[in-house]
Amino acid sequence: MAITGLAFCLILYTVFGHIPSSLGVILRTTDKIVWANEFEPIELTCLIESISTNNPRIEWKKIKNGVPSYVYFQNKISGDLENRAQLREPANILIFNATRSDTAEYRCEVAAIDDQRDFDEILISLAVRVKPVVPRCSVPEAVTVGTSTELRCLENQGFPAPQYRWFHNSEELPQDPKNSPRFANFSYSINPDTGGLKFRRVRKEDAGEYYCQAKNDAGYAQCSPQIMDVYDVDILGIFLKSLGIFAVVVSLVGCLCSFRRMCPHNKGHSENNYNWPAQNDRVDYSDADEGHFRHKSSFVI
Ligand SMILES: *[C@@H]1O[C@H](CO)[C@@H](O)[C@H](O)[C@H]1NC(C)=O
Ligand SMILES: *[C@@H]1O[C@H](CO)[C@@H](O)[C@H](O)[C@H]1NC(C)=O
Repeated sequence: MAITGLAFCLILYTVFGHIPSSLGVILRTTDKIVWANEFEPIELTCLIESISTNNPRIEWKKIKNGVPSYVYFQNKISGDLENRAQLREPANILIFNATRSDTAEYRCEVAAIDDQRDFDEILISLAVRVKPVVPRCSVPEAVTVGTSTELRCLENQGFPAPQYRWFHNSEELPQDPKNSPRFANFSYSINPDTGGLKFRRVRKEDAGEYYCQAKNDAGYAQCSPQIMDVYDVDILGIFLKSLGIFAVVVSLVGCLCSFRRMCPHNKGHSENNYNWPAQNDRVDYSDADEGHFRHKSSFVI
């Protein structure tokens, strides 16, 4: 009986007994590189493969830009994760609501004084994905046929950096029009990394509504559609500009003429418009006091 008991103990010891104590504390994690979405929970695992010590000392440090800080120390969550995380058996850290500032490396350290190998640590890198916000899109209101132009799209919150897509009249523009028969005649090119949509030569058909979408693994966002008009030649622009200048001149003249008896004076003086001192001289030598006075008042206006 005693011998069988001893033998049994011996077998148990050989099979299980000495293995942990001889190896000491060993840690393991399910993922060394962890991706999480912002505003979602995430658990960093620190599994203890073997240990003999009953109450090992567990610590977690956050290492951001090479600077370590405690996030679990003396049995409580502290620092950046205070009130935002909890320790879960055996030594995992659960972040309730990850934020972009949690992107960092985290080190789980376990000290087991009763073990032969009394310390182990494991490094986990956490990257928190951030959904893009609405990108800033710039679409020219009007361009001339045959000229080049660029539409721009920019988003700077998303992580990882988003890829950009452009839509024309609600239809996605393939990144390379040459590969798609429907867009074979288009002369644009899209840079999905910078968000630029470049037209080498704008065609009439390029007119319409444009919007851009910024997308990464966390989600996407898009700007509201903006209209780009395409004119045959810039005749309209030239016409509008000339019309504008003409209107200003006409209203100025009309304005000045609306003051009684002022038109002849102004017309006379306009010859000296680019020569103010000469005009002043002329006024000084004016013999009519009334005219002199009127001229000065118009000069003040
Ligand atoms: C997470 O945090 C953000 C900002 O602090 C908050 O708006 C959001 O409601 C939180 N989400 C949850 C599930 O608690
Ligand atoms: C492209 O242009 C050619 C020649 O101008 C024309 O024959 C063809 O129909 C156009 N293709 C499309 C898809 O518009």
